[in-house]
Amino acid sequence: MRIGILTGGGDCPGLNAVIRAIVRKAISNGDETIGIKYGWKGMLEKDILKLDLDAVSGILPRGGTILGTSRTNPYKKENGPSIIKKNFEEVGLNALIAIGGEDTLGVATKLAIDGLAIVGVPKTIDNDLEATDFTFGFDTAVNIAMECIDRLHTTAESHNRVIAVEVMGRHAGWIATYAGIAGGADFILIPEIPIDIEQVCDAIKKRHSRGKKFSIIVVAEGATLKDSDVILQEKKLDEFGHVRLGGIADVLAKIIEERTGFETRTTILGHIQRGGSPTAFDRILGTRFGIKAYDLVKEKKFGRMVSLRGTEIVDVPLQDATKQLKTVNMTLYEVAKTFFG
Ligand code: F6P
Repeated sequence: MRIGILTGGGDCPGLNAVIRAIVRKAISNGDETIGIKYGWKGMLEKDILKLDLDAVSGILPRGGTILGTSRTNPYKKENGPSIIKKNFEEVGLNALIAIGGEDTLGVATKLAIDGLAIVGVPKTIDNDLEATDFTFGFDTAVNIAMECIDRLHTTAESHNRVIAVEVMGRHAGWIATYAGIAGGADFILIPEIPIDIEQVCDAIKKRHSRGKKFSIIVVAEGATLKDSDVILQEKKLDEFGHVRLGGIADVLAKIIEERTGFETRTTILGHIQRGGSPTAFDRILGTRFGIKAYDLVKEKKFGRMVSLRGTEIVDVPLQDATKQLKTVNMTLYEVAKTFFG
């Protein structure tokens, strides 16, 4: 078989582990693998490369994606879907494995419904895909954010400061909740619960009144103040209709300093959370996803997506991935609340 592989949307650590696993298993079974460059853009432009054993040698610990990625939406291009179908034929693909988040998999779902032989692999640091317990990339992002929170503790403590740390995650607070619990945050603010600024300031004051002279507040980029909208870095929408979030930590820091009188600083972690080498968890999850994706192709189970359920790798309908956003489990958030203030 001739199997195409593409990575779309924001990059994340573990993508290369998936690519390597598919290529290694396919070649050992006598199949051929073709890399599509820059996600759906490469399918539109027939920008491809042969993926042999040499191409995937040494890539397991590497962050990013050797195929490149983009946020290209073929449904926003003239005749986009038919160009993809034509190129699929011309390149001689028997199947395509699309590795991506809600946008890339949303496109994959529509194309699969239209008859293309596609299998999906869920990735995103945001962990907001409904049909899998975890996406790869999330664990690495959480570990990076946790390390940053640890580092911010020592400087906040030395200066008796409050530090508001902003993490990514779009409209879900998974990174904030996990990194906040692991890093011992004194308050965690997530998009799922509008921020009650009174409550945050009271918690900080309570903490300071019991002798603590510093506080770490973790805030998700998509968190909003009660009755306010999300804070944006820019209003422009991407091809999937997403805005660029960012800046809520600065807004919060100002209010906290005014209301508590404590000196407050901001740290926005940004793309550092997506860069660099994947954790062992993400390398293993990516590897298991890649092997399962190849198996689904061989079984001709198209229109399916690989998924982690408990400790098992299973497959689910591709459309389940993008049906609705997976938001933070409130039982987990209750655990975090024990340590607020
Ligand atoms: O979806 C992954 C993610 O990193 C989000 O957490 C974040 O809001 C967005 O991508 C940033 O996008 P970009 O890399 O295009 O700035």
